[in-house]
Amino acid sequence: MRIVKSVQSLRSSIKKYKDQNKTIGFVPTMGALHEGHLALIRKSRRENDIVIISVFVNPKQFGPKEDFNSYSRPEKKDILLAKNEKVDIIFYPSEKEMYPTGFLTSINVEGITDVLCGASRPGHFQGVTTVVGKLINIVTPDVMYLGQKDAQQTIVLKRMTADLNFPVTVKICPTVREADGLAMSSRNRHLTARQRETATVLYKSLKNAKKRILAGERSSARIIRSMRAEIEKNSPGKIDYIACVNADSLTPIKQLKGKVTITLAVKFGRTRLIDNTIFRI
Ligand code: PAF
Repeated sequence: MRIVKSVQSLRSSIKKYKDQNKTIGFVPTMGALHEGHLALIRKSRRENDIVIISVFVNPKQFGPKEDFNSYSRPEKKDILLAKNEKVDIIFYPSEKEMYPTGFLTSINVEGITDVLCGASRPGHFQGVTTVVGKLINIVTPDVMYLGQKDAQQTIVLKRMTADLNFPVTVKICPTVREADGLAMSSRNRHLTARQRETATVLYKSLKNAKKRILAGERSSARIIRSMRAEIEKNSPGKIDYIACVNADSLTPIKQLKGKVTITLAVKFGRTRLIDNTIFRI
């Protein structure tokens, strides 16, 4: 496995792969790799000749009061994990490499970035689309792999790649969970023991909601009310949002039908956790 820090050197390796007609699978990450990332890497490994991952904690997608400085950066462990998964190249750019002096451009997907996580994290998705747009242009992958846990991010990035004609297929892979159901996230490591223990209510509330809907409940207001009550009763988490939305457009649904995503964001102290479930009625 090679660790590449500059765009120029990455591009020259990629040119060699392309000259040999090799397919490239790409997993963009901010490091602090966990089983969720490893599942994406493994799928990419099975499906492509070459696997490239990026590790870059992107300052543009963090708000001024968010956890950019405290975000975990276990560089040695990440390198080891990537090596074990037979990653070909780990792209580790510096902030200066990604955003050199004079950088002025951003990518903005409208509308769907202002709701849900976008409503409480203004500018977040513009940071995500800008960095992922750059990474796609640098890596020129055939396939990019993303996790379903970040449901809104997957929809925003699919929109961006379609609207801007990026020649890449975006594959969304299922959320990987801890044994007790908590969605894997680099942020879980910041939870206190009590927060960690009670955070399992997030997935439980999603599962209970899905069960009630499949049993015939169609009112999203009632579903949201019962999820809110379950989370508030069983954890110290402060709910940012719980929403029932159309899985493709992210528009809220009152009467549940079609392809539905139930999605939530809840803060445990300073740690903001998100989770979702998608299903068809
Ligand atoms: O999901 C993430 O880790 C990040 O948002 C991404 C896609 C790597 C962009 O920085």
